[in-house]
Order: sequence, then C-alpha cells, then structure tokens
Amino acid sequence: SQYIIHISVSHRFCDTFEIGSRLGNTHGGLSCMSSCGWSLNAQSGSKSMKRVITYGTYDLLHYGHLAMLKRARALGDFLVVALSSDEFNAGKGKRAYFSYEERKAMLEAIRYVDLVVPELTWGQKVEDIDRYGIDVFVMGDDWRGEFDGQLKGLCEIVYLPRTPEVSTARIKNDMRLR
Ligand code: CTP
Repeated sequence: SQYIIHISVSHRFCDTFEIGSRLGNTHGGLSCMSSCGWSLNAQSGSKSMKRVITYGTYDLLHYGHLAMLKRARALGDFLVVALSSDEFNAGKGKRAYFSYEERKAMLEAIRYVDLVVPELTWGQKVEDIDRYGIDVFVMGDDWRGEFDGQLKGLCEIVYLPRTPEVSTARIKNDMRLR
C-alpha cells in the first residue's frame, strides 16, 4: 500500500535540512540524499544503519591505516572517522606532516569512510556516540581497555589488532635515513 509522508528533518550529521512530502510504501524508507547516512525506516520509525566510529590522526596514510578502516567499516554500514585536529595533536606534543584538511581529504577519498569529523578533545567520545547514533566504537588494540570505563553501556567496544611493522612514526624515521 502507498501513502504520503510529510517530513521535516534536520540531519545532525551533514547540516541538510529537508522539508516536504514523499510517496512511500510500507516497505520503503527515507534517507539522506547527501552523504551523512541518516535514514528513517518507514515501517518502524527507527534508524536502519549500524554506525561505527573510530579515532586517529591518519598522517602519511599507509596500508595499516587502510586495513583498520576496512575492518572497522565491515563491522557496520556507516563509518565515521573522528580525525585528530592539528590543535588537539599540538596539545599532545604531536605534529602531523599533513594538515587536518589534507588528512581529511585523503580519508574522504577512501571507500570505507563515510564521514570525517574533527577530534578536538579527549572527552568528546560520549557526545559523539550520541550525536552520530553510534553502535560500535573501534580502536586499534594499542588502546585495549582504555575506553571501557568511559563508554561502558553506550555502545559496543571493539579493539582490532594493529597491522604489524608499519606506523607513521616508523615511516618518518625510515625516511630520515635516506
Ligand atoms: N593502525 C593499525 N595498524 C598500524 C598502524 C595504525 O591498525 N600498523 C591503526 C591504529 O590502531 C589506529 C588507526 O590506525 O586505530 C590510526 O592510527 P594512527 O595513530 O593515526 O597511526 P600510526 O601509524 O599508529 O601513527 P603513529 O606512528 O604516529 O602512532
């Protein structure tokens, strides 16, 4: 059966504001025409996507990063990468070779990445999980157990094994030798 849906939607993730009517059917749904992944299942009224989030600097992109992003994306349908800002890194005494905007552009070109947002503070994870409707929080196992206390009960927490023998620090170090 078909029906008219009247909607007024503010997409929190991509700043799209949508208002209007759509012809739907009982098996159909509505989704963002932009890239934020927002969707509404017409039958249940609930979101239909499993959303995953991960955090990192992703400087001098390498195959260990790609393997992490691919596996993180495979845990759901939509991957948000919270990318450390240059200011946040400076506070940690870390300086990326590529700027935030350059690193963001590279991540956005990767097929496993659906949305890149800035990581500005250590404490934003709880808010991000709510804001982006996150179901799974993923980090490399160099962080194992680190966020269990803070995020307990909010979403699933997964620590994935790092790819051996490659890191941004190692690349920087090796390049100095040439
Ligand atoms: N990562 C991974 N395998 C590697 C390197 C990184 O799985 N060999 C993962 C990290 O665990 C993290 C994400 O990729 O979840 C981003 O890591 P990041 O710290 O930005 O990259 P590194 O190469 O580890 O950088 P650095 O040497 O500066 O720590």
